[in-house]
Amino acid sequence: MIRVRENYNLKAHNTFSMDATCKYFVESDREKELSEFVTDYELNPEEIIILGGGSNFLFTTDFPGVVFYPLMEGYTILREDEHEVIVQVGSGVVWDDFVAWTVERGYYGIENLSLIPGHVGATPVQNIGAYGVEVKEVISGVRAIDLQTGKVVGFHADQCRFGYRDSIFKHEWKNRFIITYVTFCLSKRPRFNLNYGSIREEVDRLGGVSLANVRQAVIRVRNTKLPDVKVWPNAGSFFKNPVVPKELSDTLSKSYPQLPLYPVDEERVKVAAGWLIEAAGWKGKGIGNAGVHDKQALVLINKGEANGVEVAHLANEIKKSVFLKFGIWLEPEVNII
Ligand code: EPU
Repeated sequence: MIRVRENYNLKAHNTFSMDATCKYFVESDREKELSEFVTDYELNPEEIIILGGGSNFLFTTDFPGVVFYPLMEGYTILREDEHEVIVQVGSGVVWDDFVAWTVERGYYGIENLSLIPGHVGATPVQNIGAYGVEVKEVISGVRAIDLQTGKVVGFHADQCRFGYRDSIFKHEWKNRFIITYVTFCLSKRPRFNLNYGSIREEVDRLGGVSLANVRQAVIRVRNTKLPDVKVWPNAGSFFKNPVVPKELSDTLSKSYPQLPLYPVDEERVKVAAGWLIEAAGWKGKGIGNAGVHDKQALVLINKGEANGVEVAHLANEIKKSVFLKFGIWLEPEVNII
C-alpha cells in the first residue's frame, strides 16, 4: 500500500544520520500505485529526491519537496542456461542481501561488490564499483516510472551511459525516473577479479579462490578500512577520484612519485583522492564534530553531533587545501542537499 507522510524526519533514512525533514515522504512497493500518484501531481525535478538506503546524501537543511522511497522486493529469474542467469531484482532490496543471494547460488559477477551499503535501485544511478568491478558490467536493463508521464518504462544498459561513478540518471535524467527493478546478467562459470590491492592475499589467507572466499575477503578488507556507520555515521567516499589531464598527472608525479595514478585513456588519468587528502594533512583530523576517517581519508564522518553544515564546511576546507597543494579541485560524490 502507498503511504504518504508529511513533515517526515529522515534521520533513519540517511547514513550520515542527519536530522532533516522532508515535506512529503512517499513509499510503496507497487509500480501501479507510484505511477498513479505521480500522474496526479505535477512535480519539478528540483522538488524531488529518490531515496534508496540513503548512503549517498548529506542533508544540510530540511527538504521542502517530495522524497520517493521505492520498496519493490523480490528476485525473478527471467532466463537461465548452463552459462548464465538473468535475474530481475526489486529496487528496494538491500544490495548486500542480493550479493549474498548470488554467492549462495553460485552466480558470479558481483562478489567484489560485497558490503556496499544501499539498495539495488541506486546501483545503476551511481554505477557502484569496488575492487576492480563496476556494476555496469552485469546490469542488462532497468525498469522505472517516468515522473513526467507516470508510465512504466524499460531501458537497455546501453541507454544508461555508464561511466566511473556516473550514469545518465545523474545528468539529463536526474530525478526523472523512479527505478523500480534492475536486471542483472550473472555468470554460472567461475570468473574472478582478484587484481585489486589486497584482495588476492586475503583470499589466500582464507584458503584459496572460491566465490564465498572472495566475498569474505572483500568484507574483511572493507571492515578494516571503512568506518561502521553505526559507530561513525558516514556516506562512504565523500569525493570522487578526480580524472585529470595527463600533463597535470605527469607534473605531479615528478614532485610526488608515490601518488597513485590509474590511466583512463591516452589523455586522462584518475588520481587517488584519498592520497591527496592524506598528503594535505587531513587524515584523522577534522573540524568540530565533522571528521576525516583515520584509515581512509576519502571518508568523512559524523563524530556524533555534527550537523550537515559542519560536514559540508569540512568538505569545502579539504577541497580548498587540496587545490592549493595540487591544483586539483575535488568533486563530491555525495549529493549535498
Ligand atoms: N590512499 C591513501 N590514503 C588514504 C586513502 C587511500 O594514500 O587515506 C591511497 C591507497 O593507499 C591506494 C589509493 O589511495 O593506493 C586508493 O585507495 P583505495 O584502494 O582505498 O581506494 P579509493 O580509490 O580510495 C575507491 C572507491 C571506494 C572503493 C575502493 C576499492 C571511489 C570514490 N571510491 O576508493 O568506494 O571501496 O576504491 O575499490 O572511487 C565508496 O564508494 O563509498 C567506496 C568506499
